[in-house]
This record gives sequence, structure tokens and C-alpha cells, in this order.
Amino acid sequence: AGESCSSPARVHDAPGGIVMRFLPEPSAQSLRLLFLFLFVMGVAPSPALTAGCPDRCVCDDQLVVQCAGQDLTLFPNDLPLATRQLIISNNRIGDLPALQLNYLSDLVYLDCSNNSLTEISESTFGNLRKLAYLDLSFNTLLQIEDRTFGPLASLVMLRMTDNPGLGEIHPDAFLENIALQVLDVSRNNLTSLNISSLIALPALRSLGLSGNPWRCDCDTEDLCLWVKIEGFKFQEGQTVCYNPPELAGQRLADVGMQLRVDCHQGLGYWDYLFFIAIGFVIFSAGTVSAWVMGILMVLYERYTKRKSEEVDSDDEDQRGGGGGGVCGGGGGNQGNGDLSKPGMEV
Ligand SMILES: *[C@@H]1O[C@H](CO)[C@@H](O)[C@H](O)[C@H]1NC(C)=O
Ligand SMILES: *[C@@H]1O[C@H](CO)[C@@H](O)[C@H](O)[C@H]1NC(C)=O
Ligand SMILES: *[C@@H]1O[C@H](CO)[C@@H](O)[C@H](O)[C@H]1NC(C)=O
Repeated sequence: AGESCSSPARVHDAPGGIVMRFLPEPSAQSLRLLFLFLFVMGVAPSPALTAGCPDRCVCDDQLVVQCAGQDLTLFPNDLPLATRQLIISNNRIGDLPALQLNYLSDLVYLDCSNNSLTEISESTFGNLRKLAYLDLSFNTLLQIEDRTFGPLASLVMLRMTDNPGLGEIHPDAFLENIALQVLDVSRNNLTSLNISSLIALPALRSLGLSGNPWRCDCDTEDLCLWVKIEGFKFQEGQTVCYNPPELAGQRLADVGMQLRVDCHQGLGYWDYLFFIAIGFVIFSAGTVSAWVMGILMVLYERYTKRKSEEVDSDDEDQRGGGGGGVCGGGGGNQGNGDLSKPGMEV
């Protein structure tokens, strides 16, 4: 066993021995390291293999990159590819470059709060399938479009508060975020929110809506009723109507039923029309059938009266005719009986 272990070592020694003939041992070692280094750099000059860290950021061996409050105006360059947590909060970054961000396919935690982000597109988070926490609070976002968060299938918590101009969130923005548990859109400029896709998210357990200028009309009826029915899901705070003036200051949960009644008056009108029409049909059918019944009764009465008169007057004629009928019928029955008997025997 000792020999088989040492034999590979001998084979390995051979090239070293060749090199040793021309160069002294230490130089050969450093040359080999240099070749290895150049080889790695040439084949994959990727940030993952550079042990570096972006300027003004602190990187640790837990794959956390911390760049908060460094007055950055651009997304940091040369992030380690294996980064799991990236904190770029409290800077003045105006744009999240999709290309650089999507290299970070192991990213789990991304804090972009308190920057100058104005826009996020469908491609921004295209490849971040492991991302579980995303913070976009305290930015200057204006609207959230369809599929903005589409590929984020692992997203558990999304904070998007304090964007003073954020007035519109597409109904299907969260359609594919099936793991989403906590969504906070407090203190934005939202007047309504279509909940058709939110209501279908299986894991959602907390939704922050406070501090928005909600317009409590038929467009927000579903939202108000949802807040009322699933009140436990909604975080504390001022979730109140801003418009119309007569509902201003009232809690969304309290106007839900009111809106339900008000917004379905049109339907009620048609319902009444329907009931009136049905009532009329039933009424006229009843009247007609009563008339028909009455007429039939009168006719029947007259008929039986006439019949009894006829029986009294034509008594003899009826007996003769009746006797003939019975004889003919009897003959027919006998014939049928005879024909069926052979069939029964077989
Ligand atoms: C936002 O970041 C700035 C520094 O860039 C800081 O002074 C300010 O307090 C931060 N605001 C919040 C709400 O964190
Ligand atoms: C909020 O939205 C309204 C229109 O709905 C707009 O007039 C107002 O300027 C917006 N506020 C901000 C801070 O953008
Ligand atoms: C909400 O969005 C869905 C899907 O886009 C749409 O079908 C529905 O009509 C919208 N509801 C309201 C009240 O706008």
C-alpha cells in the first residue's frame, strides 16, 4: 500500500525535476503560481473570483456587502458574484442596472431604501430567483408596472413605503410572487389598489396601506371590504379615505359596507325591473288560467247537463250500440289470445 501511494508522487516529481535542471526550486514554484493566476484571469475575469470588494463598501466572509450611507450615485461595480446580502441604502443611486444586478443570482437580501430610484422595469430583477427580502422604501418611484416583480418567486417581504409620487401599481404587479408574506406600500400617493391578484396570494399575511390618499369610491370598494373582512392582515396606522370629502378621515374598513350598497344601486334597479316583469308574468298567467278554468267549468257543467238529458231521451238506442261494441271487442280479444298461445309454448 505504501508503494502505491508513493508512485503518483514520483510521477508528479518528474516535471518538477525537469524544471529544476534549468531553474532553482523557489523560482519554479512562483512561476507555476503566476501561470495559474494568469490562466484564471484569462479564462474568467469575473468578480466572483476576484476577492475584491467595491469602492467604499465593506465585504465580509458571510457574503454580505455593506455600502450604506457612502454618498454613492451609481450602483457599485465589481460586486462579488456570490453576494447574498447587498445593502446600498442611504445613498443617491438613481438606477438599478439590470445587467450588473442579474449577475448576483445568489442574492437573498437587497436593501435599496433611501436612494433616488425613479424607475424599475421588468428586466431589473430578471434573474434574482432566490431574493427573499427587497426594500425600495424612501425612493422617488412613480409607478409599478406589470411583471416588475415577476421573476421573484422566493420573495417573502417587499417594503415599498415613502415614495411620495408613487400613484399607480399595476393589478398584476405581484401576480407571480407566490411566496410573498409581507407587503408594505404605506405612505405613497396611492388613491386606489386593484386587489384581484393580491387576494390570490396564498401566503400573504400582512399588508401595509396607511398614509395613502385613498379615494373611497366604487373602484376601492373591493379593497375596503377586504380590509374589513380580513382586518387582521392590515397593519396599524392611518388607513383612511382622503376623497370624496364626505368620507374623508373615515377608516377603509368602516366604509366597505356603505360602498357595497351605494355601488350596486344600478344592479338593484335592474333587479327591481326583473322582479316587476316576473311578477307581471305570474299575475297574468294566473288571471288567464283562472279565466280558462272558469270557462272550462262552465262548459263541463253544460256538457254533463246535456249528456244527462240525452241519456234520458235516447236510452234504448245507447243500449243496442253498446251491445254490438262489446261483441266485436270480445272477438278481437279471443283472436289475440289464440295467436299468443303457441308463442308462449315455444
Ligand atoms: C437617507 O440618507 C441620508 C444620507 O444619504 C440620511 O441623512 C437620511 O437621514 C436618510 N433618511 C432616512 C429616512 O433614512
Ligand atoms: C399625487 O397624485 C396626485 C394625483 O393623483 C398629484 O396631483 C400629486 O402631485 C401627487 N403627489 C406627488 C407628491 O407627486
Ligand atoms: C382589476 O384588475 C383585473 C385584472 O387586470 C381586471 O380584470 C379587473 O377588472 C380590475 N378591477 C377593477 C375594479 O378595476
